[in-house]
Amino acid sequence: MIPKLFDLSGRVALVTGAAQGMGRAMTLALADAGADLLIADINTAQLETTADAIRKMGRRALPVTCDVTDIEQIRAMFRELDREFGQLDILGNVAGPGQLGRPEDIELELMSDIILGLTVARFCCCQEAGRRMLAGGKGSIINICSIGGVSALGRGNFPYSVGMGGVAQMTRELSTEWSGRGVRVNAILPAQVVNPGLAERMQADPQLEAQFLSGIPIGRMGQPEDIAGPAVFLASDASAWITGGLIPLDGGNLALNAGGTPGPRA
Ligand SMILES: NC(=O)c1ccc[n+]([C@@H]2O[C@H](COP(=O)([O-])OP(=O)(O)OC[C@H]3O[C@@H](n4cnc5c(N)ncnc54)[C@H](O)[C@@H]3O)[C@@H](O)[C@H]2O)c1
Repeated sequence: MIPKLFDLSGRVALVTGAAQGMGRAMTLALADAGADLLIADINTAQLETTADAIRKMGRRALPVTCDVTDIEQIRAMFRELDREFGQLDILGNVAGPGQLGRPEDIELELMSDIILGLTVARFCCCQEAGRRMLAGGKGSIINICSIGGVSALGRGNFPYSVGMGGVAQMTRELSTEWSGRGVRVNAILPAQVVNPGLAERMQADPQLEAQFLSGIPIGRMGQPEDIAGPAVFLASDASAWITGGLIPLDGGNLALNAGGTPGPRA
């Protein structure tokens, strides 16, 4: 049985990036707490496997192929949501691009692409969701941001980090504008969560994992499933008075000053 505070029965969620990683983990956690879902991704085949897993839990799943860097595709996805569900209670704003580039070399075109594809596109999802939620007088928006949205990452993460800074500030501004009308807006800030791209980079550079771990006091890298609890918490009435929050999902990374070192591990 789902504890009442965390119960999402009768609620509808839209989650992007749901084919794998944190988007898939968030999707399955929301479904497990009772929500029906529209799930979106560019990977149509893998999205179907997420949809099947949701249906096996007895919930409704509508997979929609959508490139969330394309504003027209985002708007079409929301129109499909209106047709199929006629309701939106939760947005999980997860998918987005993450190109690298050194600030001294980066083409301004790439910089614009990132701001458009990451920050403006995430805002478009917030705007589409917010309009519907404000009309109903309630809703919870969960933006996936990054520790890079509030602190510097280095290693050529410049465009991504600047784009995520916009997502962090968007979360505070939207919360301030909308919370009085029933729509809470929060962000989750992950540190390094293992995904296929990161696993490949760690394989190519044997020092990289140790470097990451030196900034993670808990002593392990994140796994996609680590997002399950925070996602259900922020989506549900358990977080009714939490809005505008930038919630670290980082094993203690943001709490650790650069001059500090993690304590001894058991
Ligand atoms: N993994 C990390 O260490 C980390 C840390 C901080 C923030 N983030 C952010 O969290 C989000 C998810 O990361 P993850 O590690 O779970 O990623 P992942 O690579 O495991 O999965 C990303 C999913 O998004 C989909 N996707 C990619 N581009 C898309 C697009 N344009 N339109 C629709 N779907 C698209 C992919 O097909 C995939 O299913 C990303 O926005 C990422 O920037 C990740």
